[in-house]
Amino acid sequence: MTTLTIMPSGKTMDAPEGVSLLKLINGVDPAEHTCSDACHLYVLEGRKGLSKITAEENGKLDMIVGASSKSRYACSATILGTEDVTVEVLTFV
Ligand code: FES
Repeated sequence: MTTLTIMPSGKTMDAPEGVSLLKLINGVDPAEHTCSDACHLYVLEGRKGLSKITAEENGKLDMIVGASSKSRYACSATILGTEDVTVEVLTFV
């Protein structure tokens, strides 16, 4: 089990393998959610502890203001269980 740290609050939680950041952060299952491109966050640490970014996600991130190499969509990033992850929540559903 890895640990997810959510900034700026500093809240930590156990992060089971295979669970999306969206589900962990606000309890929303991406499969049951109508997407509004509004779950942008920065991965501050543990990028390799998350699923790889897809071309589709990368393309969507390219269109938002403030996106950087640290950017992910919480609905698209799932915990791999290989290392602890720290994220900074920016905009959220
Ligand atoms: S819910 Fe659609 S980008 Fe996150």
